[in-house]
Amino acid sequence: MTKRYLTSNQGTTVIDDQHSLTVGERGPILLADTVYFEKTAQFDREKVPERVFHAKGAGAFGYFVPYKSFDFLTQAKFLQNPEKATPVFTRFSVAGGSAGGADTVRDVRGFAVKFYTEEGNYDLICNHVPVFPLRDPLQFADFVHAVKPDPVTNARGGPIAASRFWDFMSLRPESMNFLIYLFSDIGTVKSYRTIQGFGVNTYKWINLHGEEWYVRYCWEPCAGVEYIDSKTATQLAGTDPDVASRDLFDTIAAGESVEFEMRIQTIKVEFECDQQFDILDPTLIWPENLFPLIPVGRMVLNKNPENYFAEVEQSAFSPAAIVPGIDFSNDRVLQGRIFPYGDTQRYRIGTNYLELPVNMPRSHVDNKMQDGFMQIKCNADIANYLPNTLNGGMPAWAPEKGKPSQEYVSGSVGRQEIPGDNYYQPGYRYRSMSGLEKKHLVSNIIESLSLAYEPIQRRMIGHFMRTDSELGNRIAQGLNLNI
Ligand code: HEM
Repeated sequence: MTKRYLTSNQGTTVIDDQHSLTVGERGPILLADTVYFEKTAQFDREKVPERVFHAKGAGAFGYFVPYKSFDFLTQAKFLQNPEKATPVFTRFSVAGGSAGGADTVRDVRGFAVKFYTEEGNYDLICNHVPVFPLRDPLQFADFVHAVKPDPVTNARGGPIAASRFWDFMSLRPESMNFLIYLFSDIGTVKSYRTIQGFGVNTYKWINLHGEEWYVRYCWEPCAGVEYIDSKTATQLAGTDPDVASRDLFDTIAAGESVEFEMRIQTIKVEFECDQQFDILDPTLIWPENLFPLIPVGRMVLNKNPENYFAEVEQSAFSPAAIVPGIDFSNDRVLQGRIFPYGDTQRYRIGTNYLELPVNMPRSHVDNKMQDGFMQIKCNADIANYLPNTLNGGMPAWAPEKGKPSQEYVSGSVGRQEIPGDNYYQPGYRYRSMSGLEKKHLVSNIIESLSLAYEPIQRRMIGHFMRTDSELGNRIAQGLNLNI
């Protein structure tokens, strides 16, 4: 191995970085101890704010290949050629826990994929539960506050935490579908290799002829779907809190790849109003018998990050990162997600977070945005504005590809609730479960709800009754509540 010498961050050699510069053996440290001050100042700033949600995660690099050309549905270039692989970075996460939390606790898992396409970054940010508990993004901060630790004691367990969680949910009955998923064994996992991923929101795909489809995404793990029960999850949280993160890293380090199939459900935009339910409602799934899953391609994760902080912690995904051929629907939650991710990343990581290698598009970036903290790009162009003649008017506006999509929207401005059925889908799902699945669901709910205050328990029983009377009765019985 070649011998390397220690240097400061300024590149000068350091003779000793273990003993402070003092006056005599017992005297004070000198202000001239540049080695101590640089090392400590850097250390003081080592932490950046953790993500406000999905703080604990693990990630891997790899690639995605479509099975065939999907040009009949979308003009997105990375979905055109089965011979062409697009590099990806994927981050799996635990939603409610903080950065030091355990991987197996009952929670939603995040599944965020960054495609470094030739047309710029495309971020597809999914969860492992197919539905969301809300219909309006204005309620998201309240939801996150309710699932995060109690602001007074900072505790996550016990009666106060349980009461806060169930208090919020009992006042948002649109969360019932979400709760039935979360409190089944789906809510506890020990491996990111065996979870599904769901786009939850409805997106649009647009082909070169301007034809538009609504699309819902699903990632299917090629290793099969696997969950664990509540007892195993609790045990692992104590003995091996990073089990899922380690499992992902160790599998790839052992030379195996981790693979998922991308599938979509789709329907032409003009058929939206013919459906029996609101297909833009993220609290509802699109039933597979009505909207069959179409296999689209395969994602292979085969390279571990070299450094966790640089590549996983500083990775930044945003629903705003789309490419031509993919667009937002008017799903209100999706609309509400377009702004906050980039906003929090400018605060969490810094203004120029897109210049970090893990976030940097692999395609050419050219515009007049400039400067800010930690700018790496060196702009040598005197015409740092548009329009200009001093640089031949460059960069020019990109030509629009294909027929532009046209959407006419009208309505009165106001704060309006989106109506929807809160109980049919969760009730149907409960009735479709096996005896064992029902047993686990009921006991998982009782385990958590039994800690909440009684008026909240009673309010929740009302919702479970409306979901399915057998479910409601079993939970009431387990809680010793006379209904
Ligand atoms: C009201 C709607 C929502 C809002 C306002 C919202 C906001 C946020 C914010 C601010 C972050 C932190 C981002 C960062 O620090 O880099 C985040 C992370 C995340 N969100 Fe959402 N979110 C919403 C809904 C959803 C939905 C519906 C999904 C799933 C489809 C989802 C999946 C995720 C995932 C997976 C992450 C972690 C991304 C990563 O690995 O860095 N969110 N969200």
